[in-house]
Amino acid sequence: MNIKQVTRVYFSPTDNTRTVVELIAGQLPFRQEKLDLTDAGQRPEYHFLENEAVIVGVPVYGGRVPATAFERLKKLHGRQTAAVLVVTYGNRAYEDALLELKLILQRQGFCPMAAAAVPAEHNIVRSIAAGRPDKSDRKRLRHFAKDLGRRFWELPGNYRIGDLQVPGHRPFKKFHGVPLKIKVGSSCKNCGTCIRKCPVQAISRTDPRVTDTERCIACMRCIKQCPSGTRKINKLVLLAVAQKLKKLCKERKEAEFFI
Ligand SMILES: Cc1cc2nc3c(=O)[nH]c(=O)nc-3n(C[C@H](O)[C@H](O)[C@H](O)COP(=O)(O)O)c2cc1C
Repeated sequence: MNIKQVTRVYFSPTDNTRTVVELIAGQLPFRQEKLDLTDAGQRPEYHFLENEAVIVGVPVYGGRVPATAFERLKKLHGRQTAAVLVVTYGNRAYEDALLELKLILQRQGFCPMAAAAVPAEHNIVRSIAAGRPDKSDRKRLRHFAKDLGRRFWELPGNYRIGDLQVPGHRPFKKFHGVPLKIKVGSSCKNCGTCIRKCPVQAISRTDPRVTDTERCIACMRCIKQCPSGTRKINKLVLLAVAQKLKKLCKERKEAEFFI
């Protein structure tokens, strides 16, 4: 197949997924474009051709593709366009997320040809998988990308990409969100960064102390982006979540690749 261009597509509130997608894409010798689906706002429909490829990355929320990412991925339209699927997760589990991402993209006209499930720092309890993707993850990601590059070059013009097998079960696991409330400390300078960066416009335009809890997806972006570090999860709640997760995340999980 004569791939002319690779587009990096991601929904990545705290940048882990973006980092992984870029690590993979960075090894591929094709012209590159970027489509960041994280910020809120209107978007057009995006159309991709047969001689293009996309690398699509999302984080795992409750073993699933985040509902916000799902909605935004519906703007993408492929024409038998080759797709590489990437999910990042906080070393607990990715459960149905890869299968869900595969089915979403297939429905949108893409041909999933490879996939990766990659552990990364848990963005709620950041001591879990802290610093990942680390050196060893990066090395494995580079190998995967090189394999991928060969695949892209070796595919003959009339090749139909086979049905990629990835783990996951249907019906998908139910996910109703994480009930985390963000607290705003007195050092908030009202700079507006959180308001601008919230992927779902859950923060009041006039008062960053007010968050619409119905809209908030607890993606941790406002906490990560806050320049004065004043946005936080309630300490006791975070401790309780950490206790629960630490048991489930004890063992180091390794990235898995499907090609
Ligand atoms: C609401 C929410 C749900 C999450 N659910 C899971 C999960 O089911 N399994 C897991 O291992 N990590 C889970 N995580 C951790 C993220 O998947 C992980 O940190 C991911 O790399 C974040 O990607 P990003 O930096 O691109 O936003 C969850 C994080 C959030 C905010």
